[in-house]
Amino acid sequence: MGSAIGFIGAGNLAEALIRGLRDAGVDGRQIVATNRSRRERLAYLRQAWGITTTPDKGEVSAAADVLVLAMKPADLDQAMRDLQPHITDRHLVISLLAGVRCASVERYMGERPTPVIRAMPNLSAAVLASTTALAYGRHASPERRTVARALFDRVGDTVEVSEDVMDAVTAVAGSGPAYVYLFMEALIEAGVQAGLPAEAARDLAIQTVFGAAKLVKETAADPADLRRRVTSPGGTTNAALTVLEARGFKLAIADAVRQAIRRAKELGR
Ligand SMILES: NC(=O)c1ccc[n+]([C@@H]2O[C@H](COP(=O)([O-])OP(=O)(O)OC[C@H]3O[C@@H](n4cnc5c(N)ncnc54)[C@H](OP(=O)(O)O)[C@@H]3O)[C@@H](O)[C@H]2O)c1
Repeated sequence: MGSAIGFIGAGNLAEALIRGLRDAGVDGRQIVATNRSRRERLAYLRQAWGITTTPDKGEVSAAADVLVLAMKPADLDQAMRDLQPHITDRHLVISLLAGVRCASVERYMGERPTPVIRAMPNLSAAVLASTTALAYGRHASPERRTVARALFDRVGDTVEVSEDVMDAVTAVAGSGPAYVYLFMEALIEAGVQAGLPAEAARDLAIQTVFGAAKLVKETAADPADLRRRVTSPGGTTNAALTVLEARGFKLAIADAVRQAIRRAKELGR
């Protein structure tokens, strides 16, 4: 990795990225993180992942060319007021914030043409399996775009999108792992209620979700086709899917995604 990476915000997503980057071979000395106040959290990250941490945003900016904004959208204003005086021409700012447009981040830099890139990875970055969408601010040159893509390629796949669809990406892929975890929780609980030992229910649910995703990915098959192939008329899968359909499974997912998009728009305001 050419330039050091500085995380402004050291919560769940920052740790997932740090863990993934370390596993992908990025030197711990190339990663520096800061947060608002929880010093014990910084000590933990330093110890767990061998990175550098500091309470001082000025030190992060001095050490890193790439500054990754990883705080909640509501905390952006305070964070940028502190960070902005330390941003110079050599910096690339990457924002992970749901709902916040590149232009809103650019505004803190006034007339300076600081490159800002908006990225939406997910927690699977921790195991190098994130899918990260990237949208570019108006000062993001091809060279800076390459730097951002290379960073997120190390922790999974990347896709470039127009910023107009970033809230949809957030609702599908940023929040998406949580929908899958909820589905897994439900499958494990149902398995236990049906008499499976808890550990067996957990192992079965994990491998089922993993295998299903792997088959779709590796065969590039349409999930609807695969579903039809495993659903014989009058069979057990058919009996189960009839219930899911009657209970509005797909409608619930569609509503959930719409609600997440609405929330992203609210957060960005
Ligand atoms: N979690 C996900 O799966 C996910 C996926 C995609 C995108 N995102 C986006 O990623 C961002 C972070 O989410 P998260 O789940 O990682 O949040 P989180 O766990 O709550 O962490 C937020 C971090 O921001 C720090 N912070 C707050 N104000 C700050 C300030 N003024 N200066 C420096 N650091 C500050 C906090 O520090 P203290 O602990 O000291 O307060 C904390 O380390 C959000 O904007 C979210 O939209 C998250």
